[in-house]
Amino acid sequence: MQLDEYYPTRCEYEILAKQSGEVAELIAGGEFNLIELGAGNGEKTKLLLRELSKRHLSYKYFPIDISREAINKISQTLTEELPEVSFEGIKAEYFRGLKSIRKKTNKTSFVLFLGSNIGNFNKTAIQDFLLRLNDSLEQGDYAMIGFDLKKKPQTIIDAYDDAKGVTKEFHLNLLHRMNKELGANFDASKFEYYTTYNPRTGAVESFLISVEQQDVEIDFLQKTFHFDENESVHTEFSYKFNLREVRELAENSGFKVCQNLFDSKHFFIDSIWQKL
Ligand SMILES: C[S@@+](CC[C@H](N)C(=O)[O-])C[C@H]1O[C@@H](n2cnc3c(N)ncnc32)[C@H](O)[C@@H]1O
Repeated sequence: MQLDEYYPTRCEYEILAKQSGEVAELIAGGEFNLIELGAGNGEKTKLLLRELSKRHLSYKYFPIDISREAINKISQTLTEELPEVSFEGIKAEYFRGLKSIRKKTNKTSFVLFLGSNIGNFNKTAIQDFLLRLNDSLEQGDYAMIGFDLKKKPQTIIDAYDDAKGVTKEFHLNLLHRMNKELGANFDASKFEYYTTYNPRTGAVESFLISVEQQDVEIDFLQKTFHFDENESVHTEFSYKFNLREVRELAENSGFKVCQNLFDSKHFFIDSIWQKL
């Protein structure tokens, strides 16, 4: 995320650094729950939390993450850096976490889904996710969702195929994880990384390509998998959107777009929606 070529994190950081005040103005007026799906390290969210606290808004922050490590870490940094913020970390899958919060309190929800995580679903899964999100909220609740925008294809390709080869290692790490956690015997040197961007569909699609014919065993599954030379393993989707597509996604899932917050290059938006 810190690579020179990987612009999305920096763009969203800039949005939150410069425009958290606008978010605060939108939700000011009553008590609310700020709920973050897949909070990770919460680095960018802290910018918003600082702004909300500066304005003495009455809210509680609920970071939800499936990773215990992420929840422990964010809890620790919030306690140290923002002791004035009332929060409760929830280790859970997105919608289970959301449901458990809504069971406890019925205040207005402002849900964050940042970092263009939504682009990692395929098109059907995006729509399913948004319908489910709508279903989990009450009329008038908000969602703020990060969307990476369509831009010059080379800028996008560079972000997913960096010069240092970090993205390649990130994908090969899937094989190392399978070796470690599922007793597989992948030889990572026998796979190459390949990524492509389709400006029509907006999809970055990444693959590992088997450089030779080979068999791989996965103990956990008690199965052997054969790979032909040049056979591909699809490892990631990362969809890019235009503003019309973002509006249609909102409208098709029962939301209206209230505001789009752009970075200065217009590479990325945090789109604020309200449930109708
Ligand atoms: C790429 S990180 C992004 C973190 C942060 N939102 C940001 O923008 O920097 C995605 C986070 O979502 C969490 N996550 C992924 N799938 C999840 C799920 N189904 N339920 C809950 N958390 C999930 C991961 O553990 C990870 O911390």
